[in-house]
Amino acid sequence: MTIPQQTTAEGAEPLLKVSGLVKHFPITKGVLRRQVGAVKAVDGLDFEVMPGETLGVVGESGCGKSTMGRLITRLLEPTGGKIEFEGRDITHLGTSAMRPRRRDVQMIFQDPYSSLNPRHTVGTIVSAPFRLQKVETEHGTKKAVQDLLELVGLSPEHYNRYPHEFSGGQRQRIGIARALALKPKLVVADEPVSALDVSIQAQVVNLLDDLQSELGLTYVIIAHDLSVIRHVSDRIAVMYLGKIVEIADRESLYGKPMHPYTTALMSAVPVPDPKRRTQRKRILLTGDVPSPISPPSGCRFHTRCWKATEVCRTVEPPLIALTPAAGHRVACHHPENAPDQAPGETSATAATGGKSVESA
Ligand SMILES: Nc1ncnc2c1ncn2[C@@H]1O[C@H](COP(=O)(O)OP(=O)(O)O)[C@@H](O)[C@H]1O
Ligand code: SF4
Ligand SMILES: [Mg+2]
Repeated sequence: MTIPQQTTAEGAEPLLKVSGLVKHFPITKGVLRRQVGAVKAVDGLDFEVMPGETLGVVGESGCGKSTMGRLITRLLEPTGGKIEFEGRDITHLGTSAMRPRRRDVQMIFQDPYSSLNPRHTVGTIVSAPFRLQKVETEHGTKKAVQDLLELVGLSPEHYNRYPHEFSGGQRQRIGIARALALKPKLVVADEPVSALDVSIQAQVVNLLDDLQSELGLTYVIIAHDLSVIRHVSDRIAVMYLGKIVEIADRESLYGKPMHPYTTALMSAVPVPDPKRRTQRKRILLTGDVPSPISPPSGCRFHTRCWKATEVCRTVEPPLIALTPAAGHRVACHHPENAPDQAPGETSATAATGGKSVESA
């Protein structure tokens, strides 16, 4: 008997499928470089990205977002798990087998200052993908680069300028032009606007949005808070210490968040409407993210969660669907907006804190 492939309502297959993805960075000691431990940067991720959609990935600094991005673009070798692109296993493809795939998957980096070589002209930077992939263009590389510059809202005359002559926002546009040069299918943008002035963040996010519909791109956009990606993401994955703790479509996640960590991240997003502002509880997460070298037992969030009970300390909650909402999955024993997974357990930290609640 053949088992039919899992498909969506439209019958499309995922562009990218990640199962059990793991990246542990070894920690070595002494001249023999004996391994004494590992940074569990990414510790078992399962998700799919459908053609044409935008998956937003959020979480605090150090939770493994960039490592995840570098794994799916194959800039890093995974420790375990599987990465499939258009149904093909690319998990351990070598450099030469990966070369044709490099065209299809591109990355936009966080820092537009360090990601562009200061000694190269804009023309050299944006044409690099053509040279590396030995791609001939119809009207020559220069014309192709100038078209790309126009596409991202820069002037073709910028061809001979150097990165230092541009503002942060313009530099990120150069990085975007470079990423789009070979017409990739998937673009992974790692905090593309975090290093930019708040006043121009929206412009760059809107540019990415426009380019998506124009070029039929699929995005994975990484951010450290929920405000930047709210308007551009179709679905959102929330990461904590190397794991996805909640994944859902945008309406479901913002309307009925289930993981306490998601509600905490959400309460940090400013509310523009002053009437609504007074109604909302502000949750301040206290304490730092624990070390990914020895993550907490059970639920990794239990050291900071105000709902934590004994079961949270001992049993790791699986990432599962708890409500009929299609595709909304959460890893929590005592979720918000959903039936309790471990009823009868009383919170031990409720009195002592783990967070503080205040009316904002
Ligand atoms: N090359 C590396 N070697 C060792 N540890 C690393 C390396 N890259 C990242 N890490 C560690 O992995 C964890 C996750 O890092 P990262 O993926 O950059 O998180 P994020 O992008 O969410 O801030 C951090 O603890 C970081 O210090
Ligand atoms: S499983 Fe327990 S500790 Fe983890 S988020 Fe849910 S309530 Fe909090
Ligand atoms: Mg990062």
